[in-house]
Amino acid sequence: MALSAVELIVKKRDKHELSKQEIDWLIENYTSGQITDEQMSSMAMAILLNGMSRDEVRFLTQAMIASGETMNFSSLGKPTADKHSTGGVGDKITLPLAPLVASYGVAVPQLSGRGLGHTGGTLDKFEAIPGWQANLTNQDIFDQLKTVGAVVCAAGDGLAPADKKLYALRDVTGTVEAIPLIASSIMSKKIAEGTKALVLDVKVGSGAFMKDLEQAEKLANTLVEIGRDSSVATSAFLTDMSTPLGKKIGNALEVEESLEVLAGAGPADVVELTIEIAREMLKLAGVDADPQENLNNGKAMDKWNEMVSAQGGDPLAKMAVAKHSETVIAESEGYLNIDALGVGMASWRLGAGREKQGASVQDAAGVVLNKTQGDWVGKGEVICELFTDTEQKLEGAKMDIAKAVEIGGQIKRKPIILKEMR
Ligand code: URA
Repeated sequence: MALSAVELIVKKRDKHELSKQEIDWLIENYTSGQITDEQMSSMAMAILLNGMSRDEVRFLTQAMIASGETMNFSSLGKPTADKHSTGGVGDKITLPLAPLVASYGVAVPQLSGRGLGHTGGTLDKFEAIPGWQANLTNQDIFDQLKTVGAVVCAAGDGLAPADKKLYALRDVTGTVEAIPLIASSIMSKKIAEGTKALVLDVKVGSGAFMKDLEQAEKLANTLVEIGRDSSVATSAFLTDMSTPLGKKIGNALEVEESLEVLAGAGPADVVELTIEIAREMLKLAGVDADPQENLNNGKAMDKWNEMVSAQGGDPLAKMAVAKHSETVIAESEGYLNIDALGVGMASWRLGAGREKQGASVQDAAGVVLNKTQGDWVGKGEVICELFTDTEQKLEGAKMDIAKAVEIGGQIKRKPIILKEMR
């Protein structure tokens, strides 16, 4: 049967369901350049406006996986589990989580990305560790999973290339927000990565991609369905991102806070989320254990040291220290309400994040909160400290923090885990 891009666009525009054969043809021909960007952007808009059925989303995900290589860890001799976060301010959970889960004999293959905009990327955080290398070959990944049990590295170009092309197109055509497209984009990369269990951390709130609970729930549900339809044991947590996670935001600063967690301390919200996601990953991988144990007994920290060293990093090296810093002082007294997006913007402006793909980031830049959501602050007390290597960035960041902070009546901090979906 001869297919035509225009006919498929019209079919989706008129709210009809596309078949597996049609979706395969669309993705294959878009990846090879036979279908133009104009046609694909029109299709993406039709999907954004009219949605997709569960079958269509599954076919789309499978087609994107088939556009590139897939990893297979079935010969490792241990279960695999990974997690994916939709991104948030101060979200450093992967750092303590990967070694914690690996310390129980479950392999964690995390192929990750660099950050763009106000949410930092996991690779940027690891790259703040002197010597640490993000680029590994597929053989390196396999070997490290076998010996150490955890790998966090850059996803190669071979993984779901159709997603790479489509994501760049969505970015400039107002179609990023389509739930079927977000879900198939995330899951095509995670399934191609070869994990057999997956926990999704879908962030909700001002600092997240999904601002309201209803949309986040819809996304989480679609992600879990794709996982289930693809034989990947999948759960999703909806977690609060209305205020920053933890107290340290920025690349080296988040490594520091992760080390606190691995040492059995750290802020309560970061510890709770690390433990609960680890517990779920272990459960999905068939391991019955209490992850608190290996945080307390140092086994997770030992695994961190192995994992960092295996990728050329020096776990004992001193992290970069910013050349300039400034404190933000409370001008009145009361309870603190601190908004995630504003703090994320400040950290990005100080140099922790990038404006354009490929730009460099400052390792030491960021924000350290002295007070967090719901804390009492006295007039003249330090709310937070700003760090950067570029002094002139301090002024703009102070303005971001001023907008992010409200001091007033008592507020109740939301629970970190808002909902669990299985
Ligand atoms: N992250 C992805 O990988 N894809 C999207 O579409 C959105 C967020």
